[in-house]
Amino acid sequence: MAQLRDGFQSRIGFVLAAAGAAVGLGNIWGFPTQAANHGGGAFLLVYFIVIFLLALPALYTELYLGHQAQSNPVNALRQAWQEKGPKIGATAGYLGLSGAIVMLSFYSIVAGWMLAYSLEPISRALGLEQVSAFLQGDSMARNFVFTPLMLLLTASIILKGVKSGIETWSRRLMPMLLLLLIALIGYIATLDGAAEGFSAYLKPDFAKITDPDLIIAAMGQAFFSLSLGVGCMMIYGSYLKPNENLPKLTLSVAALDTGVAFLAGLLIIPAVFVAQHNGVQVFQDGKLIGEGRLIFAVLPELFASMGAIGLWVGLTFFVLMSIASLTSTISSTEIPVSFLVENHGLERKTATWWVTLVIMLVASAIILNFEWMFALVISLFTQYQLPLMGLFYFITVGWMWKRGNQLRLECKGAHYWFAQYVRFVCPVLMTAVFLNVAFK
Ligand code: ALA
Repeated sequence: MAQLRDGFQSRIGFVLAAAGAAVGLGNIWGFPTQAANHGGGAFLLVYFIVIFLLALPALYTELYLGHQAQSNPVNALRQAWQEKGPKIGATAGYLGLSGAIVMLSFYSIVAGWMLAYSLEPISRALGLEQVSAFLQGDSMARNFVFTPLMLLLTASIILKGVKSGIETWSRRLMPMLLLLLIALIGYIATLDGAAEGFSAYLKPDFAKITDPDLIIAAMGQAFFSLSLGVGCMMIYGSYLKPNENLPKLTLSVAALDTGVAFLAGLLIIPAVFVAQHNGVQVFQDGKLIGEGRLIFAVLPELFASMGAIGLWVGLTFFVLMSIASLTSTISSTEIPVSFLVENHGLERKTATWWVTLVIMLVASAIILNFEWMFALVISLFTQYQLPLMGLFYFITVGWMWKRGNQLRLECKGAHYWFAQYVRFVCPVLMTAVFLNVAFK
């Protein structure tokens, strides 16, 4: 007898898990930094436009592909291309899957830093100065301790499966993340300098709005933030029951992700201005100080300048970052794990350990060649692979899905027009953004 496939047991479980996949370092770190460096409110405006015009339909197409196939991305894309070229579909599935591994390898390094910084205030409170210096120090040894730790935390959830692992933990961690975020915003807002931060964040610098770099940065950020282009959403869509209302769920996930990114801006940018008010240097040549230094130097300096309460604020902030990372790493790890289980008959436990090992190997290559590899991998991945895969998914759903474009035939009314939009407008819009950058 065929084994029943594991899956989400409730709608809210799915929404929290998918929003957990989406909400991550990209929202809390990447988004505010990009906003501060690309004209504040101008970036915000372009980001919202990109989310609405491109990322939201892309989220829907990815969820739709998985939901229809009720299988992992390689099978889903092979099925979608079954009449025109199943190999093309499967190759794209493998590309996405490798993308997930690459993403996890750099993401786990950074997530490991968050874990280290969460433990640092505790070590300081206990007077363990050497431990505290190790946790804050930028050493290779620290990467080789905390990257595997993050991967083990991820594996411990994945081992339990979709319902008992991913869904249960997303239901626990996501409300905690929202509470911590709101509490931190509330506290920072009361400090001197915060008001200036709110105005810098929300006031648009319209001169920057047509800058191609701003547009591609917003698009890369939106795709990364919604975890599009590697199959995360496809795999989560595949674990949804076949009769669920996909458009409504898509909107809920996108709204939560964009809401958290917006809230993170309300935390980080005012915090930066409070730090400046306290005498910390935060801008250099009109730009926010190097991205890494923002989280790991400026904010810790700010927490230190707050006295005793700073210890708790720092702890809360880095626990928040660690939770956001964990709900994202589990979603990407599930893609190759489900592929090994469904296509190669491996036990979930064996598949999880193999995937964890491969990610650790790729992460080790990055750690050992950090200087040139780290930033390069991140920028190639976010600015090119993710949007290009998004373009491929539009073409798949718009033109190839069971060739006669079933999406268009199935739909009536508003759905029909949406299908036309995915078919014609989205691929053209995305290509235009790329051309705009290539010929600027
Ligand atoms: N979507 C995840 C993030 O934004 C990967 O961090």
